[in-house]
Amino acid sequence: MAVLDQFRLDGRVAVITGGSRGLGRAMAQGLAEAGADLILIGRDQQSLEAARHELAALGRWVAIVPGDVSTPQGAETACEQVLQLNRPVDILINNVGGRRLDVAVEDMPIQQWQELFDLNLTSALICSQKIGRGMLERGRGCVINVTSIAGPWVTIPNIRGRHYETAKAALTALTRAMAADWAPRGVRVNAIAPGAFLTDANRRWFTIKPEFQREFERRIPMARLGEPAELAATAVFLASDAASYVTGATLIVDGGYTLW
Ligand SMILES: NC(=O)c1ccc[n+]([C@@H]2O[C@H](COP(=O)([O-])OP(=O)(O)OC[C@H]3O[C@@H](n4cnc5c(N)ncnc54)[C@H](OP(=O)(O)O)[C@@H]3O)[C@@H](O)[C@H]2O)c1
Repeated sequence: MAVLDQFRLDGRVAVITGGSRGLGRAMAQGLAEAGADLILIGRDQQSLEAARHELAALGRWVAIVPGDVSTPQGAETACEQVLQLNRPVDILINNVGGRRLDVAVEDMPIQQWQELFDLNLTSALICSQKIGRGMLERGRGCVINVTSIAGPWVTIPNIRGRHYETAKAALTALTRAMAADWAPRGVRVNAIAPGAFLTDANRRWFTIKPEFQREFERRIPMARLGEPAELAATAVFLASDAASYVTGATLIVDGGYTLW
């Protein structure tokens, strides 16, 4: 197959948790442009409907599953709804996650620590179990976990909430362990570790705290934050046959942040 054809995803079905906005939405766009049909999971029905409308205009089948994957029960329910759509899933992107809480380690309430681990780590495990089972049975598929440079590569300065660094580092470890276990059964497992990106949420945050944006820019050799669309091609690559010999990898997409 010619090299650019290896990136095509025609006829593949991709599930993206948090596919309605932010980096998940950008990756959904990339996969759809490469030919994939989509199943998007998110909490807000209106954002999901908007994403479905825009992405279906590319000529793809797009289904939406409203659900909250931040609890084990919520993640299971959302995955069951995905399975009820009766479309064998080829690609799973475990994208939902976030810091959400700015609390020092010494003050971190254990219940919140566990809840944020469920958001950043357990959700990916449960979605991989529920959706990955069919991949293992069919002997083909791929999982992409969205981690962060904040785990295990760097600790982000001037912010607290180290559950985030810890859970993302654990997700990196889970990626590598699952990749080893599932490789003989035809399922690749990789991760994307984004640096700082200008999602709508971050744009709003940087409007309130412009010094944070300046601090990121100072630390990034490319001296700018990433545009969400710049993550899309990485997701397409890992999801496609172009990455047929890639498993257990983490692709860092950070403008060089982790180099200094
Ligand atoms: N943005 C960055 O610069 C950056 C940097 C490094 C790593 N990351 C990682 O990249 C991933 C995406 O980040 P982002 O900034 O795009 O995230 P985001 O803006 O917080 O959320 C994006 C998507 O996730 C959905 N979502 C959030 N919580 C959910 C839940 N509990 N259940 C189901 N859907 C949920 C949102 O829809 P609803 O709100 O409607 O549910 C939306 O579709 C995260 O894992 C994050 O840690 C981001």
